[in-house]
Parts: sequence; C-alpha cells; structure tokens
Amino acid sequence: MEEIKTIKVTIDNISIDVAPGTTILNAARLIGGEVAPPAMCYYSSLEGSGGKCRTCLVEVAAGSTADPRPMPKLVASCRTNVMDGMVVKNITSDRVLDARKGVVEFLLINHPLDCPICDQAGECDLQDLSYDHGTEGTRYAFARRTFVKEDIGPYIQLHMTRCILCYRCVYVANQLTNERMHGIVDRGDHAAISTYISRAIDNDFSGNMIDVCPVGALTDRTFRFKNRVWFTKPMDAHRDCENPECCGKVTLWLRGEEVFRVTTRNDQWGEVQRFDGKAGWICNTCRFDKKETKDWVIEGLTTISRHSVIGANKYKILEMPKETIANVMHGRDPRLIMDIHSVSGVNEPGMDLSDINRPATSTDFEQHPQPKN
Ligand code: SF4
Ligand code: FES
Repeated sequence: MEEIKTIKVTIDNISIDVAPGTTILNAARLIGGEVAPPAMCYYSSLEGSGGKCRTCLVEVAAGSTADPRPMPKLVASCRTNVMDGMVVKNITSDRVLDARKGVVEFLLINHPLDCPICDQAGECDLQDLSYDHGTEGTRYAFARRTFVKEDIGPYIQLHMTRCILCYRCVYVANQLTNERMHGIVDRGDHAAISTYISRAIDNDFSGNMIDVCPVGALTDRTFRFKNRVWFTKPMDAHRDCENPECCGKVTLWLRGEEVFRVTTRNDQWGEVQRFDGKAGWICNTCRFDKKETKDWVIEGLTTISRHSVIGANKYKILEMPKETIANVMHGRDPRLIMDIHSVSGVNEPGMDLSDINRPATSTDFEQHPQPKN
C-alpha cells in the first residue's frame, strides 16, 4: 500500500499532522476550539468560497521547514495551504487579534446593530464575532447604506442592509440550483445582492441560501418573527424524499408538537453536515411543505456542540458547575444579593425554570396578580 504522506503544522503551539493541500483554517479546525479562526465567508461545502471577509486572518511565524522566514503580512487562513514545518499564530498573536478587531469594525460599518429585532439573533455568526472581537463603540460618522427589504420569491426575504457580501448565497445558487437568478451587482460601496429584474428565486434548492447566510440578510419567510430560535427545540429527523438530490436529513425546530421551521443539519462550525461524503442539502419541499411531525421520522435531540444560546435550551436538567467561591472564601458561602424569583413576583414562587423539562408556558408565569404601579 502506498504510504500517505502527511505534513506537520503548528498552530498556537499545538502541532498536528495533516494531508497536503489542507488549508490553515481546516488544520486549525482539526485541533478545534478557540484555535480555529472565525470564518464568515468560507463554507467547506461551497467550492470557491472564502477569501472575501478577512475574519480568518492569521500570522505565519515560520513559512516551512525549508524556508522558515515569517510571512510579512497576515494571511487569510481559509485560502492558504499549510506547508511542512509551518508555524501559525492565531489567538496567540496580538497582531491577529488587533486585525480581527479592525475587520469586525469594517463589517459593522454598514451592518445595523438590530440584534434585538433580527430573526437571526441567537444563531448569527456576526453577532458571535462582534461579541468576541468587536469594540463597544464605532468611529464611523458617515451615512450608512440602507436598502428596502425585498421578498425574493415566496420563501425568502432579503434584508440587504444586513448583508456582508460574503457570496455564500451566490455560490449556493450557482452550485445547487439549475438556474441562478441572483448575484452581486455593482462594485465597492454600491455592491448589493440582487435578483436582477426582480425575478423570484423559486428553484428546488433555493432555501439552502437561508442556511448559509451568516447574518440575518436572508431569512425564512415562513418562520420570520414566529419564534425566537432559543425558545425552539431542535430535533434531528429524516424522511424518504422523492428528490434524488435532497438528503432528507434535517433539523426540525419545534415548540411543543408544532414544527416552526426545517433546516439542514449543521456541524459545529455552522456548516451543513456531510452524509456519505456528500453535503446534506435539502430541497424546498422538505424545508417548506413538511411542517408536521407526522411527516418525519424523529431521531432525537440535536446535539449543538457550539457554544450557543440554543444549546442552553435543550431542556435537560442542568448540571450545575462546581461552586468554587466557598473554597476561596474560607468556607463562607456567597451571599445572595437579590433573589429575583421572590422579588419580581412574576413566576409561581415554587417554580425553578431550570428544572422544567419542557419549554416554559404562560401557566408557569403570572400566578399572582401583578403589583399595580
Ligand atoms: S445575503 Fe447573506 S449569504 Fe448572501 S452575500 Fe449577503 S451575507 Fe452572504
Ligand atoms: S473566512 Fe477567510 S476570508 Fe472569509
């Protein structure tokens, strides 16, 4: 058998052997955790993606064993392949963290900070990125780009004001659907996603554009404002779809027995999972027309491994972390500053919401008359 050669790369002081041709980003993802740079435009199942947003910049402190000189500029890790003996710095580099802060500031120049009313809140990559790398203020003092919301087809709404021009949806349209009807028009500050002559996107796989959009620019019109994503319960499910291109494996987002939305199954990087070596894209019939639990074979709770508000809503009894304050305070317990349950009078007093093995309902609240102001 031919020996498979691997090459060694060190990222944030952790070494790993990877196949030749692996990008720095994918090598870092093999290590996992914080070592993996954030990626707003790269999407492993979309050919040609990456290289647009610059959030994945890293420092190459040594190019290779053969030529250990550092690379003078930070490089986009999603578009740079590893070399044998390469040394990369991500979170261990102040230059990278500073540059990432600048990239977030640029991405937020035109992006509205409307998370409280945005349908993507709770599962938005830009929201996570700005929490991790953003600053609390902005230095931008000029008029921001704004656009009118546009329904592109019966299922998708485009809110161009939130778009970061990552091109992912264009690649989905190019690579998954028979006929591309939208793209990016104009250049620079004027660049915008558009359906040219306002033609509706109504091909079989267009719904996947919603899933790849890292922000709230493309949203599901059948789900918009129906529920906050952290109140829903994600369940893995499948059905035998008649469309041979559809993988039929989905995540159902339930509230009680009601299916609020259907999406692809995503991995810990927020990208579509692969089944039998193929990306698990789903057709619009599965996504928009099968909204009853009887349409599906339910497999069980979706495991959300990424640190996420959705993960907090799994309705499993919480495992509380070990309390350490008593140890460092010579055995004294922390003092409860305010017991919100007893002070607010909103909840039924004996009710601990963490212990409810289901979504809270209105009967759990307002058991007592509210104090009149
Ligand atoms: S609409 Fe979303 S997926 Fe498409 S380019 Fe804009 S941010 Fe990217
Ligand atoms: S993820 Fe690498 S440039 Fe966008």
